[in-house]
Amino acid sequence: MSKRKLLLAANWKMNPAPAAAMVNAHGDRSLNPYHPHADIDVVVLPTFVDLQRCMDAGLIIGAQYGHPETVGAHTGDVSMAMLKKLGCRYVLCGHSERRANHGETDEDVAAQAIAALENGLHPVICIGETLEEREKGHEKTVVKKQLKHLPLESDVTIAYEPVWAIGTGKTATPKQAQEMHAYIRSLLPDDRRESLRILYGGSMKAENAEELLKQPDIDGGLIGGASLKPEEFGRMIEIAENLHG
Ligand code: PGA
Repeated sequence: MSKRKLLLAANWKMNPAPAAAMVNAHGDRSLNPYHPHADIDVVVLPTFVDLQRCMDAGLIIGAQYGHPETVGAHTGDVSMAMLKKLGCRYVLCGHSERRANHGETDEDVAAQAIAALENGLHPVICIGETLEEREKGHEKTVVKKQLKHLPLESDVTIAYEPVWAIGTGKTATPKQAQEMHAYIRSLLPDDRRESLRILYGGSMKAENAEELLKQPDIDGGLIGGASLKPEEFGRMIEIAENLHG
C-alpha cells in the first residue's frame, strides 16, 4: 500500500459537470461526493466553463490544460496565470488526448509543467504508452523518454495512463500497473523518489479501484468515465479512505 496521501482526480474531459457536483458542499457534504476530504485529496477537473461553479460549490478545482505563456495571441487558450487567478489549485499537463488531438510534444508538456509551477499551480503530468508501443515491448522506453524533460525535482504529480486503457474498459492489471509505477519511481531524482505521487489512470472504476490502490507505488487515480457518476465516484472515495484513513 502506498505511503503517500492518496489523490483522486475526476477528469470530466469535455462533459458537463455532474449535477451532484454543484450541490453546495459548504452545507450538507453528503450530497456532494466530490467535496474535499480530510484523509485523501479529491480534485475535480471540469471544462473551463464549469470551473467557477465548481469552486463556488466548495470543490478543489484543477484545469485540464493551461497555456505556458501569461497573455498573448493564442486564440482559444487560457493561461496558467489566469487559472491560478481564478482559484485553480491543479492543472493537467500532457493528457494523451491533448498529445494526440493538439500535437503536444514532450517539450510542450514540460513547458506547461514549468509554467504551472511558476504560477503556483500543482501540475499533474500524464505519461503512458500506446497499444502499439506496448505490443512491441517499448512501454518502459516510452515513459522514460516522456519523463526526460520534466521538472521532477519540483512538487509535481505524475499520472501513468496507458493509452490503450483510457476509455476502453481495458484496465491495466494491478500487476502491470504496479510494475510500471515502480519503474517510473526508480527514474525519479533520489530526493523525490519516496514523496512524489504517481496516479494510475485508464478505466479505473469502483470495481477495480481497491486492487489498484492496494499497490505500493499507486498513489491515487486519474479517473475519467467513472468520475462522471457521482455514486460510483463516491464509492471509490470510500475505498481510498478505508485503505488510507
Ligand atoms: P477513463 O479516462 O477513466 O475514462 O479511462 C481516464 C483519463 O483519460 O484520464
